[in-house]
Amino acid sequence: MQSRHKDCLSNPNTRDINFKMKSMYDLGVPVPSKKALIVRNIKNVTSLQREIILKKTEYSMFSFPADMLILDFLSDSGTSTMTDMQWAAMIHGDESYGRNRGYYVLLDAIRDTFERGDNPKKAIDLILSGEPNIERLMNELYLTSFKGGFVNGGVYQLKRPNAFIVPQGRCAEHLLFSTISPILRDNSPKKDFYILNNGNFDTTEANIVANQLHAVNLFSANLLEAFPLDKIQLNNPFKGNMDIKGLEEFIDEKGVDAIPLIYLTITNNTAAGQPVSMKNVKQVSKIAHNNDIPLFFDACRYAENAYFIKEFEENYKDKSILAIIKELFSYVDGFTISFKKDGLANMGGGLFFRDQGIFHRKFSVNGDIGIKLKEKQILTFGNDSYGGLSGRDIMALAAGLYEVVKEPYLRQRITQVREFAQKLTQNGIPVVLPPGGHAVYINMDKFFQNTDMKIDEFGGVGFTIELLKHYGIRACELGPFAFEWDNKTSEEREGILNFVRFAIPRNVYNSNHIDYAVAAITELYKNKDKIPKVKISRGAKLRLRHFQSGLQPIYNKSK
Ligand code: F0G
Repeated sequence: MQSRHKDCLSNPNTRDINFKMKSMYDLGVPVPSKKALIVRNIKNVTSLQREIILKKTEYSMFSFPADMLILDFLSDSGTSTMTDMQWAAMIHGDESYGRNRGYYVLLDAIRDTFERGDNPKKAIDLILSGEPNIERLMNELYLTSFKGGFVNGGVYQLKRPNAFIVPQGRCAEHLLFSTISPILRDNSPKKDFYILNNGNFDTTEANIVANQLHAVNLFSANLLEAFPLDKIQLNNPFKGNMDIKGLEEFIDEKGVDAIPLIYLTITNNTAAGQPVSMKNVKQVSKIAHNNDIPLFFDACRYAENAYFIKEFEENYKDKSILAIIKELFSYVDGFTISFKKDGLANMGGGLFFRDQGIFHRKFSVNGDIGIKLKEKQILTFGNDSYGGLSGRDIMALAAGLYEVVKEPYLRQRITQVREFAQKLTQNGIPVVLPPGGHAVYINMDKFFQNTDMKIDEFGGVGFTIELLKHYGIRACELGPFAFEWDNKTSEEREGILNFVRFAIPRNVYNSNHIDYAVAAITELYKNKDKIPKVKISRGAKLRLRHFQSGLQPIYNKSK
C-alpha cells in the first residue's frame, strides 16, 4: 500500500492536527475503504462430508457445490460483491425487448471509461436521478450521435455497428473468431493463420482453435524470474508483457499475411495475472501497425492493469486511473471483454472495435464486418440492445464501470492480493512474485521439488483436491491438466506453465479469510509428500476438459 496518498497531502482537512501523531495513512495498515452490510453465513461442513461429495462429483473442482465450501478461490469472474450504487442502478433496469434504457446508459459508460479519460459525461445520472426534461434526455442520452471511437452512436451504430453486448467474455471471443475465420478462409482456404497473444486465456485459445486458427503465446522472458519479497511494494517488472523479440521473429518467420490479429491480455491471466506496461503496449502497437495488423486487448482486468501502471511505471503517478485507461485504449483497434471481472458485475461481456479503423477495413471484405457480427449476435445471443443480458444486468454493469475505477477500491484490491502472496511466501510457499492483480499463483514445479511427482501426474490437481477435502477451500489448477499436456506436441508443451491459482473475488473476503487460507495451504505444503497423483478417469480428450472431465486421485498408502 502507498503509505501516503496524494489527495490527503493536498487536502488540509485530512491532515492530523497533532503533528506528533502519525497520520491515518502512516499507520502501516490500509485505511478501510468499505464496509459490508449484507452477510452470508458459511455452512459448517466436515471434511468427511466433503470427501463424500468429492467422490460423488468425480473430484472435479468445477462440479463441487459452492454452498458446501468455506472459501472459494476458483474464479474472480462474476463473483464480485456489488456496491450499493450498483444495486440501486439495478432497480432502474428496463426489461424492454427493444432499446431498453440501460443500453444507452451502458454504451455511454463504455465511452466514458475507455475514451473520455478525466472528462466522463455520466449519462447514467440522467436515469438514476429521474431526469424529467425530455429534451435533455433526447439530446444527452437517446439521440446522441457518435462516430470514430469504439462505440458508434445514433444512426452510425445502425449503419456501421461496432459495439456488441454479450453475456460474457467467451461469447465475444466466439463472435469474433467464428466471424473472421470464414472471411480469412474464403481468401486463402489452405493457409495457416496465427493469433498472437501475450497469454491466451483458456476460453480464448479454445475459441481460436475451434475456428481452425492457431493460438500462440508470447510470454515475457522474465515471467518465472525470481523477485524479492521486500520489493513488491516498490517496483514491478511487468511480467505480463508480450515478448517483443518473439513477436518480431514470429512476424518475420510466418509473414504478415499469416497473422490476422495480435492480442494483448491485460492483466495477463495465463501468465500469473501479471500486468502489462504502457511501454509494452506502445511497442506492440507500433509493430502491429507498421505491419498493418490490428491490435486488440483482451481487456477483462483493465482497471487493475491501469492501477499497476500508476503505481509503478514512470510518469504515471500523477495521472488518474481513467486517464491511464484512455491512453491504454488509444493504442488498440478493438477489444473483447468480460465485464464479470473489472465491470464489477455478475454478468456481461462485449466486443468493440474502432469505427473505420484497421480491423474494420481489413475484415470488411464482401460486406461490413460489423453487420456480419451483428447478424451473428442476434442469431446467438439476442438483439444488439441487450445481447443476452437482462435490463437489470445492464444497469448494474454500467454502474460498476464507474465503481471499479475508483482508486480507494483498486488500492484495497491490489493490497489484498499482495497480502495473500506475502503471507504465503513468508511461510515458504513458492508463489509467483510479484503477485498480479486478481490472483495468487503457486508455482507447482517448485512446490513439488524434491518429490517424485511428475508433470503428467497432475500434482497441482492433487493439491487442489486435498485443499478442498481437508479445509473446504477451492482453487484451480491452471497447468498441465487444464492446458492438456498429454494431448500436446513437445513444441506446444513449452507454452504450458504449471500453476495453481487462487483467484480472489472482488469485495468478498477480508484478512480473516486470507489468514485461514494461508494456514491451510501451509499445512498442506508441509505434508506435500502425501498429496496424491491424479488420473483422468473420464473425458481426457474433451475440449476445455477441466470443466468437464472426471478425475481419480491415487493415494500412496505407504505415506
Ligand atoms: N479472457 C480472460 C483473460 C479471462 O480471464 C476470461 C475469464 C475470459 C477471457 C473469458 O471471460 O468467463 O466471461 O467468458 N476468466 C475467468 C477466470 C473465467 O476464472 O479467470 P468469461
